[in-house]
Amino acid sequence: MNQIKLFDPVVSGEEESSIKKIFKNGFWASGAGIGRVNDFEKKFRAYVNSKDCIAVNSGTAALHLALSVLDIKNKEVILPSLSFVSTAHAVVYNGGKPIFAEVDPQTLCIDPSDIKKKITKNTKAILPVHFAGMPANLSQLKHIKEEFDLALIEDAAHACGAKYAGKKIGSHGDMVCFSFHPVKNLAMPSGGLISVNRSDHRNLRKIFSSKRWCGITDRKDVSYDIKDLGWNFYMNEFSAAIGLIQLKKLDRLNSKRKKIAKRFHNEIHLEQKIPYDKNCSYHFYWILLKNRDRFRKKMKSVGIETGIHYQPIHKFSMYDKHSNLPITEKIGNSIVALPTHPNLSDSDLDLIIDSVNKFS
Ligand SMILES: Cc1ncc(COP(=O)(O)O)c(C=O)c1O
Repeated sequence: MNQIKLFDPVVSGEEESSIKKIFKNGFWASGAGIGRVNDFEKKFRAYVNSKDCIAVNSGTAALHLALSVLDIKNKEVILPSLSFVSTAHAVVYNGGKPIFAEVDPQTLCIDPSDIKKKITKNTKAILPVHFAGMPANLSQLKHIKEEFDLALIEDAAHACGAKYAGKKIGSHGDMVCFSFHPVKNLAMPSGGLISVNRSDHRNLRKIFSSKRWCGITDRKDVSYDIKDLGWNFYMNEFSAAIGLIQLKKLDRLNSKRKKIAKRFHNEIHLEQKIPYDKNCSYHFYWILLKNRDRFRKKMKSVGIETGIHYQPIHKFSMYDKHSNLPITEKIGNSIVALPTHPNLSDSDLDLIIDSVNKFS
């Protein structure tokens, strides 16, 4: 039986030959050799049109590092509970307190009106997630940022190539964090990036460059200083070489994802599903169902992998199980992720659509 995967990176001989060059060159870490990490930062910056881009080794590291310059110790950061756990972990790594807000049931992105209810004098930042690649309401979020003098950090792990108000995601918030995990729209073995739009971006580059490499600064030949704590977060040359090829293909691959989403939108007979929006990067396609377990088993029996993205973060033992988030919990109990990757053939799509309509 044909197996249809939920996520599947689209790669060709180009990625393969690009990594062979790194093998031959012998410099695998960033900052040396043929400079693929630098090239990737420059090309991604031009792609999203931001002030600067800082490459790191995961989306989790990007969030951790971005929040590390905000001084959130004992401060609150408002984020959705419906996300991958890294979004909240990044707050905790930096000594902050995650405050979970509800999502808008149409888009599953953070609900700006619930953010307003949760702002206190201790709130330092808002951290929206562009859920499944659907842009959050950035114009309302920017208003809130200005009104309450907060930082706006975006989790754009799903939103590589998505747009808001005619501009690429990556060019709006103070800092925008991407993931290039192999399942993502732009795939690497592992990788992430912070797109920076703050006016002090030159100073931030210095800080990030040091913090992503164990705090190393003022290098002169073999001597250096450590002024602050840093981590080992730098991107490697193999990932960057693959990322450069993936970036060239990104818009083409995302338009395939949109075509798939359009078919699902028109042919899946369910009320509750991700809306069709040409600005969305459709990292996956979500539907809401009452009989989720039975549905997923049936889908598996015909060779279709589905997912649950996500179990709400506040339900995990280490987080605030007592948050009152009825909309998020209802969604968490009924959400199913369907594949939208560009390796799906027309017959795969026919099978997915028929099976969803039959089993839901
Ligand atoms: C919404 C969200 N945020 C953050 C991350 C973390 O990215 P990474 O796996 O590259 O650390 C992911 C990905 O897994 C994600 O889906």
